[in-house]
Amino acid sequence: MNTQVLEIKERLPITEVLADYIQMKKAGVNFKAVCPFHNEKTPSLVISPSKQIWHCFGCGLGGDIFKFIELSENVEFREALKILADRAGIELRKPTQEEVQKQQKSRDLYEINDSAAKYFERVLWESESAKEARDYLKKRGLTDRTIQNWRLGYAPDDFHYLENFLAKKYDKKDIELAGLIIKKDNSFEYFDRFRGRIMFPILNIHGQVVGFTGRLLKEKENAGKYINSPETPIYNKSHELYGLYQGKNIIRKENRCILMEGNMDVVSSHQAGFAQAVASSGTALTTEQFTILKRFCENLIFAFDTDAAGSGATKRALEIALNLGFNVKIVEMRGAKDPDELIKKGIGLWQKAVDSAPNFVEFFFDKTLKEFDPTSVDGKREIVKILAPLIYRMSEPVTRAHFVRKLSDGVNVAESAIWDIINRISLPRPQIAKTAGNIKKSRQEILEDQLLGMTLIVGDNKYIKEFRTEDFSAGSFSVVRVLLEAEKPDLSKLSKAHPEIAEQLELLNFAATVENNEQGLDPQVEVARVAGELKRLILHKRMEEVTQNLMAAEKAKDKNLAEKLSIEFSKLSDQLRGRY
Ligand code: UTP
Ligand code: MN
Repeated sequence: MNTQVLEIKERLPITEVLADYIQMKKAGVNFKAVCPFHNEKTPSLVISPSKQIWHCFGCGLGGDIFKFIELSENVEFREALKILADRAGIELRKPTQEEVQKQQKSRDLYEINDSAAKYFERVLWESESAKEARDYLKKRGLTDRTIQNWRLGYAPDDFHYLENFLAKKYDKKDIELAGLIIKKDNSFEYFDRFRGRIMFPILNIHGQVVGFTGRLLKEKENAGKYINSPETPIYNKSHELYGLYQGKNIIRKENRCILMEGNMDVVSSHQAGFAQAVASSGTALTTEQFTILKRFCENLIFAFDTDAAGSGATKRALEIALNLGFNVKIVEMRGAKDPDELIKKGIGLWQKAVDSAPNFVEFFFDKTLKEFDPTSVDGKREIVKILAPLIYRMSEPVTRAHFVRKLSDGVNVAESAIWDIINRISLPRPQIAKTAGNIKKSRQEILEDQLLGMTLIVGDNKYIKEFRTEDFSAGSFSVVRVLLEAEKPDLSKLSKAHPEIAEQLELLNFAATVENNEQGLDPQVEVARVAGELKRLILHKRMEEVTQNLMAAEKAKDKNLAEKLSIEFSKLSDQLRGRY
């Protein structure tokens, strides 16, 4: 860790810093407080003066004093550092040798990525071999100006094209660290990660290139249509949003952001005059990404793909967004598969779809009433089961009453019966949107944190092995990877070996320890319970997706697909019942 950060932490006890924001009460060796980041009455925020960290058991957030200032003051780390250095009376002095080296490494990585971006651009514009790529982009309706603005490029279909170019100037180890070349197993040879692909540079919020998304120009066996750079010291996938650098000013000005699934959709949307569009690059959206968006706007418009993956993504994103107090609307794609396609059909159509996007409850009302038969008993039950929790999530009482009446009309069941159901729901209900505050991790993220923390405590990663890595949220990836590598996960050994996630490990361990102690839990039992709950949650989500696909396949009379999906469904439900 940065020694200045350590120095500031030494000078500023955590209790002193937090005292400006919250009232703390002593609880054993720790302190407790009502969490300022989500709405609660009984204190679930725990502060450890010895470890200098805090964690809230209600919303799942936690960190050190810097994280606390970032969240309370709505600022980025650098700003928090200034605020606390000031308070500690420390002049931000020149960095040490080690810090300089680390900064230099980051600078190298930025430079390598930028050189690669420039090279891909030059190839696209000038190379004979890129004619097909140029024609392709034209065919997809992108203007020269758009291609320039987004710095799109082309990676030729060759194993050493970029490698040879960059190796003239940079160390191959660094090019590998930047994620651009891959080392062949058991050798000193490398090859290019991106081959035969249209290249989309991913910029961080300051406009620096941190990674790439590459789209295949021509379909290839065993190659994903889209691939992305791996996480690197400068590319944190759960942090970046494609298009945010270009869109942030307009997002703030219009107080709204349109969320999409693909890079192509974002570029197309900006070109069509909708520059509030952003996308997550190839991973599910995280609480961290929404927290960043919260600095810019309160209104979100979801414009995900119409396929089932799209609607699964919609639900996950919706949960996080509502927890954070955003107002959420959902674009009806009107027969198009994604925003890019709708824009191609006509900008007017897209404009109308955005302007008339219904709020999330209305969206699911129409969808659900179409999907199930509101005159049959089973249909009524399904419809109410899906819609009641959504109505419950509406923060505003009058709107809530409006939708209860609408649902009662829709399924022809007494309003009082619907109110009964809603009143029995015990999910957290967000308050009316505030610009700051009201931040909460999703249930899945909280369970993941618990599982990872408990794994550290019991020193056995067998439960994590039961999951697919891609089942975890992006925020957990790096810890999962490290825990899987270790034979017997151990906090201090892992922290030493992986200083980049040492703080995260410490926090996970602390939260799990406090929880065990307070509730008198046996870690061996608790880790199994948490793993079980997480597994059920993930299986439920996957089953929901399969169900949606199944209904679509049945509607489209695609017997083959429907059969495959039924088999998958029964496999998942077997798993859910514990038969593996
Ligand atoms: P789609 O296959 O719908 O692609 O995947 P798209 O966005 O419409 O792209 P075009 O129009 O064919 O160029 C939707 C999103 O899923 C992710 C990407 O983020 C993509 O934009 N994806 C898809 C991958 O990460 N890998 C893949 O192999 C395919
Ligand atoms: Mn598309």
